[in-house]
Amino acid sequence: METWRHGCDSQLGGASRTRETRASPTSGLGTTVCYDAKETRVKPTSWIFNIDVLKPWNPTCQGMPPGKRAPRDRVGKGIVMPVLDSTLDVIGHTPVVRLRRVVPDGSASVLVKLEYLNPTGSYKDRMARAIIEGAERRGNLRPGMSAVECTGGSTGSSLAFVCAQKGYPLRIVTSDAFAPEKLRTIAAFGGDLMIEPSIGGQITPDLIPRMIERARRIAEEDGAYPTDQFHNEDALIGYREIVTELLQQVDTPIDAFCGGVGTGGMLAGISRAFRERGATTEVVALEPASSPTLSEGRTGSHHIEGVGIGFVPPLVHDDDYARVRGIEEEEARAMARRLAREEGVFAGTSSGMNVVGALRLAKELGPGKTVVTVAVDFGLKYLAGDLFSA
Ligand SMILES: Cc1ncc(COP(=O)(O)O)c(C=O)c1O
Repeated sequence: METWRHGCDSQLGGASRTRETRASPTSGLGTTVCYDAKETRVKPTSWIFNIDVLKPWNPTCQGMPPGKRAPRDRVGKGIVMPVLDSTLDVIGHTPVVRLRRVVPDGSASVLVKLEYLNPTGSYKDRMARAIIEGAERRGNLRPGMSAVECTGGSTGSSLAFVCAQKGYPLRIVTSDAFAPEKLRTIAAFGGDLMIEPSIGGQITPDLIPRMIERARRIAEEDGAYPTDQFHNEDALIGYREIVTELLQQVDTPIDAFCGGVGTGGMLAGISRAFRERGATTEVVALEPASSPTLSEGRTGSHHIEGVGIGFVPPLVHDDDYARVRGIEEEEARAMARRLAREEGVFAGTSSGMNVVGALRLAKELGPGKTVVTVAVDFGLKYLAGDLFSA
């Protein structure tokens, strides 16, 4: 990470302020943060600059009239992108959008981070890279070894994407309860699929434990590295970046954040990162109302892929969330459809659930407050099912 301090702040109009630009050596992207005279961070910009564009004019504050923001064609992801060495560098730096039409009057502002714009179309890419690189760093995963995971699809796609680039064969234990597009994506990246049969395509409480056991046996018998998304704390490292980015992108305090819990990696990673940054954001866990495991210790069937896995996920600790909300599956599905039609946010059922949760919080908090959630994965993954045809 390269850092430049700038003596003035002509773009943001405050001559007494200092701007700091941090450039990522791998992606070539930079972000700019603004400090006052006491070095208190006062205004993270909502931009991600391409550093090659920024370099010629930014260090001397030239090229921009005082008080003017950077021109729009220099703002945002993908503008004058440099050549990247690997698609691994495309992970992260996702945009945040404010929802307008689905938010009722009298509510707080609701912001959604579009995590489906990661390379395989979900936030699991962040986790997959962190898990594989964590294992490499510790020497647990070495050239010539393979990896194994049990997953409903998104994690498998992300691991297959990362492993393909790093040259590790990957075995995925999955089920016919999950979207066929996701399973085909894993295969497209070269992952080897092992299908555990479901009962009528439902995610019943016994399904995930069966898949976990099969993956455990493969690791034991074949010496494959178990990426073990349900226990692997490296996953949390991958999700911390979401908070780093949010604090740069959102220029108001984030009063509440909510998200669905599967492995709980995203929620725990985000919650701990908010805490470490001293943010007072209330973190709310969401689960399918028909499977209230966190709130009531009961399990039940549902069809919201990725969440409500039938047991309390070990990665999530009690202090990672302030409260739990159950969301009705039908509401989540209806919201996924409304998001596509009314907001242009084309995402899956768990994203619909996240937004339903965020809208409830927004109603409670009221105007002037900000609620953030994530659009987990891309709607294209659900076209073979009935989510968008209902
Ligand atoms: C579509 C979808 N939504 C939500 C989640 C939950 O994310 P996490 O495992 O980080 O709790 C997952 C996890 O697989 C998922 O695939």
